Amino acid sequence: MSELLVVDDLTVAFSARGKTTNTPLRGISLTVGQGEIVGIVGETGSGKTLTGLAVLGLLPGGAVPGGRILLDDSERDLARPNSSDRGRVVSIVFQNPGTAFNPVFTIGSQMHDVITRHRSLSKKAQRAHILDYLTQVGLPEPERVYRSYPHELSGGMLQRAMIAMALLCEPRLLILDEPTTALDVTVAKQILQLIRSLRDRFGFGVLFITHSLGVVHEVCDTVAVLYAGRVVEYGTTADVLGDPKHPYTRGLLDALPARHEHGQPLEAIPGAVPGNLLSIAGCAFADRCRFAIDACRTIDPPLDEIAPGHRAACIRAGEL
Ligand SMILES: Nc1ncnc2c1ncn2[C@@H]1O[C@H](COP(=O)(O)OP(=O)(O)OP(=O)(O)O)[C@@H](O)[C@H]1O
Ligand SMILES: [Mg+2]
Repeated sequence: MSELLVVDDLTVAFSARGKTTNTPLRGISLTVGQGEIVGIVGETGSGKTLTGLAVLGLLPGGAVPGGRILLDDSERDLARPNSSDRGRVVSIVFQNPGTAFNPVFTIGSQMHDVITRHRSLSKKAQRAHILDYLTQVGLPEPERVYRSYPHELSGGMLQRAMIAMALLCEPRLLILDEPTTALDVTVAKQILQLIRSLRDRFGFGVLFITHSLGVVHEVCDTVAVLYAGRVVEYGTTADVLGDPKHPYTRGLLDALPARHEHGQPLEAIPGAVPGNLLSIAGCAFADRCRFAIDACRTIDPPLDEIAPGHRAACIRAGEL
């Protein structure tokens, strides 16, 4: 698998009046190969969306980036948003399809706008292309969806239409930010299956952002577990979920309802993600970790290879 996306030691800081106020991304490294689905999983505030936005070239104002991002071997200028390759090279599907579409235009006209920005096709050819993609994502009445306003469609239909829109310009990398969070369980499962089957058909790579290890298990080939702006565990989904090496990943797994007998309380990870990461010394997870020793509060653990292709940032990963 050749690398489509390389994120190398990505950092993002925010500053106000010349002073750094927070450092939400503290060195993220990961790769996405062609046709590979890579999950980014972590609790709220861990830096998942910021990572996706950096890859898209859409970091918010005030963000000070560091590190490197290579897309298709060309380096992205992190400091300058670059809209020309957006849609063509990378495309994003947002969490809430209801707000991602503009309520006052039909689905069809919004999809025409996307194509017009990137390709010169006649109106008629555009329409055929749009209907083709609406069909590919499994919408039973593509003509009706094309003519509909967003409020006339269900959440699941909107999410399929959103995916069709993201694929219109045949991107090589698709970023999905919590694409199933707003959907009920059955519809969410169908969307996850759809993403895998489209990946098999088109061969694009996927960066899949989620807070759920259940979703990772369902759809991802590889997973990066994020904690407080860092990758703390990285490897194939089978390795990371089957034999977790970082106490945080273990904690997330123990909190999954499927792992528990009916009526037994779920195991929650005590405490919360630190809000501001400026003054952290040592491991950011130490305060919540039941395996923490004194050294954890002074040594900042690197993301070491524990087994072939399986990395964890924990000084005790070898013993646990
Ligand atoms: N525009 C901004 N200005 C200042 N801080 C920001 C900004 N955007 C994000 N942050 C900070 O960066 C951290 C990571 O945010 P991010 O949106 O990447 O989290 P997330 O992992 O996507 O969380 P969620 O699961 O809630 O979507 C947050 O703690 C937030 O405080
Ligand atoms: Mg987010």
